[in-house]
Amino acid sequence: MTQSATEPAAEEMREAMPELFDLIGQHEHEQVLFTYEPSCDYRGIIAIHDSSLGPALGGTRFWSYASDSEALIDVLRLARGMTYKAAVAGLNLGGGKSVIIGDNRTTHREMIMRTHGRAVESLGGRYITAEDVGTSVEDMTYIGMETEHVVGMAGKSGDPSPVTAYGVYRGIKACAYRRYGSDELSGRSVMVQGAGHVGYFLAQDLVDEGAKVFIADIDAERVQRACDDLGCEAVPAADVFDVDADVLAPCALGAILNDDTIPTLKVDIVAGAANNQLAHSRHAAAIKDRGILYAPDYVINAGGLINVYSELVGWTLDRSKRKAAEIYTTLLHIFELAEAEGVTSAEAADRLAMQRVEGVAKLHRTFL
Ligand SMILES: NC(=O)c1ccc[n+]([C@@H]2O[C@H](COP(=O)([O-])OP(=O)(O)OC[C@H]3O[C@@H](n4cnc5c(N)ncnc54)[C@H](O)[C@@H]3O)[C@@H](O)[C@H]2O)c1
Repeated sequence: MTQSATEPAAEEMREAMPELFDLIGQHEHEQVLFTYEPSCDYRGIIAIHDSSLGPALGGTRFWSYASDSEALIDVLRLARGMTYKAAVAGLNLGGGKSVIIGDNRTTHREMIMRTHGRAVESLGGRYITAEDVGTSVEDMTYIGMETEHVVGMAGKSGDPSPVTAYGVYRGIKACAYRRYGSDELSGRSVMVQGAGHVGYFLAQDLVDEGAKVFIADIDAERVQRACDDLGCEAVPAADVFDVDADVLAPCALGAILNDDTIPTLKVDIVAGAANNQLAHSRHAAAIKDRGILYAPDYVINAGGLINVYSELVGWTLDRSKRKAAEIYTTLLHIFELAEAEGVTSAEAADRLAMQRVEGVAKLHRTFL
């Protein structure tokens, strides 16, 4: 058959899509779905990293990626992270994620989100979606018109922040136990970076136990609210890493543990809700070398995932908080594993997650 005028030659296509399957293989994914709907210019990728523990759950990110390959790498990386997070939290969920490529400020959302919903539906429940950067509760409602495999819709599990904050609070107590031999926080001091949804609830839990809480945010009103309501002490946002406290609880941005900040830290413990706190994986070793105890972010902030899981299994808020409280024992286990195997806490968390995934995968085979 001759090549049609509009069809690129096979060679050209190979150049345009280098190492696609190699990339998926490197990230060890089970399945990746690409969907294109020209009528609304929807371009979406759904990645299922591992479903050994259950359906792959992870949010939908709507973002203007510079290229399709940048979007693919992002979704593969994020989906893999979800496998580790769900596994270490002890949930029956696999890891997945999806991205929609485009300007997330668009007001023409219905068709884009409904197309995404159809793509999710086509996977028959192997992937469950939720909100993420660039998507909202309203977007989930559109997705929900096409599939039931969506969580976080209006009127369902609601704001995850109180459960996330409670998990972080329990995690800080575990760190204190490991570091000081007592998990008592009264008399201890915590620098909370970010007085947003999680930061505020966390400060409340800490103050309730008698801890001294320093708070910083680029939004002065949020700082003021935490000071007025809870008696926190305000710190300028630029001074967060210089504060002489026992604990730093990052609850704002990612990549805050980096070459510039790690040498200046005066705390014994870093334990907070922010995602991707380490600018690079090598920074886990840099923190360890400084004698600072680091609670791996995806372990200590799993309360948010526990909260959406509650929607799938019908848990009450109280039951979700009890699950989030288990972050305490999980972290202690991770610190022991890190010491026994001579690795960082971040590496130990990854090992613990993979142990559970591989263990359950073997159980399944018993019945095949
Ligand atoms: N909300 C959850 O349940 C949840 C779950 C898991 C992880 N997280 C992560 O925890 C972090 C906080 O989440 P959130 O829901 O509270 O977000 P949020 O947007 O409500 O709060 C973040 C706060 O950080 C502040 N901030 C931004 N830059 C800052 C800076 N340079 N210095 C100080 N403050 C700064 C913002 O002004 C805002 O008040 C995020 O990284 C989020 O991804 C949240």
